[in-house]
Amino acid sequence: MNAKIVVLPGDGIGPEVTEQAVRVLQVVARKEGHSFAFSERLMGGCSIDAHGVALTDEVLADCKASSAVLLGAVGGPKWDDPTAKVRPEQGLLGLRKGLGVFANLRPVRVHPALVDSSPIKADRLAGVDILVIRELTGGLYFGQPKGRDTRNGAERAFDTLEYSDFEVRRVVELAFRLAKGRKKKVTSVDKANVLESSRLWRQIATAIGKANPDVALDHMLVDTASMRLVTSPATMDVVVTENMFGDILTDEASVLAGSMGMLPSASIGATGPGLYEPIHGSAPDIAGKGIANPVGTILSAAMLLRHSLGLEAEAASVERAVDQAITDGCRTGDLGGKLGTKAMADEIVKRLEAGR
Ligand code: NAD
Ligand code: IPM
Ligand code: MN
Repeated sequence: MNAKIVVLPGDGIGPEVTEQAVRVLQVVARKEGHSFAFSERLMGGCSIDAHGVALTDEVLADCKASSAVLLGAVGGPKWDDPTAKVRPEQGLLGLRKGLGVFANLRPVRVHPALVDSSPIKADRLAGVDILVIRELTGGLYFGQPKGRDTRNGAERAFDTLEYSDFEVRRVVELAFRLAKGRKKKVTSVDKANVLESSRLWRQIATAIGKANPDVALDHMLVDTASMRLVTSPATMDVVVTENMFGDILTDEASVLAGSMGMLPSASIGATGPGLYEPIHGSAPDIAGKGIANPVGTILSAAMLLRHSLGLEAEAASVERAVDQAITDGCRTGDLGGKLGTKAMADEIVKRLEAGR
């Protein structure tokens, strides 16, 4: 298999974790006889510094022409002035929109050896295996109008939570399709008691539920969902929700897995390359120290193998190597261990090389 992979290391710990995920992909390629061509590009704060914008047209074109995109993280204090016209995060949002990756899959599993790394009681964590599907190219992040003005002498700022029927339908339908290969349960999370956009969302989810009677559908308000996620996470299977609700709920869900550094994600659209990134950010507090957990990015690379390249066996071999390393006690600092970013990846690579 020949594949062209664009790597966008980004800012902060982004370059530290993508370097290790690329190494893992290189090992997979060598072992299984694939040819992966990697090209590294600027996106985020580093692109603002070099070109004045977070995502250039050239980089977006390269991403569109690739087999898949692997991303670290963007942002940081250097670019955080709230009055700034250009922001690193604009690059990420432009990339998601430009690639049309409307569904962000964020699997949440709890490795049995990491139960003690979570502040949640062990009995709540047994059997947790959730797939959060976050709508990624609509909702509050993209709705128009968005901006600032002055009204009656007051400075105003506004964002719009907007969804069209087709945007809801395609992501909820995907949730049902994926649920069929799992425990056949979809929890659609909304705020239908207050928001009109959520009432449209719920109406469409209900109709899709009726057309798929083999899958159990329940609706849950987002505030309740945030509570259930920590009190009874093992009762959840596929969770599908609006862009910002999904952003917030998955940082919360990472607590179940022991650390933000553990969770991967895959962003996919109807066609074209997928975008793969850990759910965490650029972690300015630990950037440059070589101590970031690379697992979320390495597991994102496994999702890249599975979803964009169709290499299921290779994806599973990477996931097994990660699982074994954790079973054997390998831990970065966020999980109470002593290993640095590279040393943790070394342990994973060692097991990947040895595995079948
Ligand atoms: P963050 O996710 O960067 O960090 C939150 C906390 O988790 C920090 O204490 C950090 O040290 C820790 N952490 C995160 N990833 C880790 C890892 N791999 N290993 C060990 N510890 C890890 O969130 P933040 O500090 O609120 O945001 C920092 C910047 O990152 C902001 O500019 C934000 O916009 C950006 N951000 C980017 C992305 C992305 O590029 N996809 C995602 C989230 C936040
Ligand atoms: C994420 C991040 C991004 C988001 C930011 C950096 C734009 O928090 O990928 O979860 O909100 O989508
Ligand atoms: Mn986030």
